[in-house]
Amino acid sequence: MKIYRGNIVYSLSIKELVELSRGYIAVNDGKVVGTYQNLPEEYKDLEIIDYGECLIIPSFTDLHVHAPQYPNRGIAMDLLLSDWLNEYTFKLEAKYKDQEFARKVYAAFVDDLIKHGTMHASIFATIHNEATDILVDCLEEKGIPSFVGKVNMDKDSPSFLVETTEESLKDTERFLKKHQGNKYAKPILTPRFAPTCSFELLKKLGELADKYDVGTQTHIVESLWEKEEAKKCFEGCRCDMQIYKDAGLLKHKPFIAAHFIYPSEEDIALLKECDGYAVTCPDATTNVIAGIMQTGKLMDLGMNLAIGSDISAGSYMGIYRQVASAVRLSKIKNLYENDNRVITAKEAFYVATKGPGSLFGKVGSFEEGYDFDALIIDGLQDDFRNISPAELMERFCYSGDVSNIKKRFLRGKEIGC
Ligand code: GUN
Ligand code: FE
Repeated sequence: MKIYRGNIVYSLSIKELVELSRGYIAVNDGKVVGTYQNLPEEYKDLEIIDYGECLIIPSFTDLHVHAPQYPNRGIAMDLLLSDWLNEYTFKLEAKYKDQEFARKVYAAFVDDLIKHGTMHASIFATIHNEATDILVDCLEEKGIPSFVGKVNMDKDSPSFLVETTEESLKDTERFLKKHQGNKYAKPILTPRFAPTCSFELLKKLGELADKYDVGTQTHIVESLWEKEEAKKCFEGCRCDMQIYKDAGLLKHKPFIAAHFIYPSEEDIALLKECDGYAVTCPDATTNVIAGIMQTGKLMDLGMNLAIGSDISAGSYMGIYRQVASAVRLSKIKNLYENDNRVITAKEAFYVATKGPGSLFGKVGSFEEGYDFDALIIDGLQDDFRNISPAELMERFCYSGDVSNIKKRFLRGKEIGC
């Protein structure tokens, strides 16, 4: 049993945040036993690891990130989606046929993810078999619970980054078979988005979903261009989500819908019906995608929400900054389009921790039985005013940096990066 002390903050629900000023967390065998304002009598003789005024929060979940795009982070941010894909992203992704390149980038990517306090993620790779195996190995080695997808794209893609439908299916099945029993990095189907996938491919992926009981991640109504393109590509298509429903891809959990910026009523109903996650990626949507999710409205409809860094349409790895940006963007959306509700920092924090954490077990909170995945955050205090633990958390999200993260714990063990 270990006892940690500090300024503790975690979510119970989207509306309830626990904050303990100089409180205690008891951890046994990697799991939280309890949190206390006053240490129970029975623990009085145990050694206390005291982090003073440091903030102690659960680690973050990034539910939409492209590992192969890591070398392009912060570059070409003045382009819009279609040009950004064609001029930069596809060219970089084509390089992952080189396994040495993949090994170097993926090792650095996983280290940087951990460094920024993200311990759970849903990750796109590329179309390449061997490189995607390397990414899975890097995540397994570090013990990062994750979903990883070999990307499918069999049409309207450049000649240097496209598969035949048959190749795409054969490689995907091989990937599912090889990794279905993994301890941490689990396979997920990853059709890139509607414009680069034929319906035949999606339907056959639906059959694989049944055979291997796997979920799907993709981009859904991410831009006005993509929304219209999807309708053009699929005859009789009413909306993006309907394509995946017709292909049989909504039957297995999880269904992860990145962006979800321009959903119709039917898109919303279908995502809700399959208990899927709408992932807002605030940096990405302001950099290259040009649209803002109706986060407040979707929350009020009882939808599952999550946050993604979306490297490299997004430019920063740390999910904590996306928490701040999600709040900011909800205000802008409300101001200009008046079709949203402004969300709070408390809500956004839940959406970055406990909300999507449930896809990985008891993750993203410090309630009893939860994995002790935690960040110890320092350097945000000053003597100018009393600051509550919840305010410290907010300050970290708005003004913090990776240098404030002093220690990281994964399942009770300190993890280096
Ligand atoms: N749509 C299709 N591919 C991509 C991608 O790589 N990133 C983002 N953000 N959107 C996409
Ligand atoms: Fe993306």
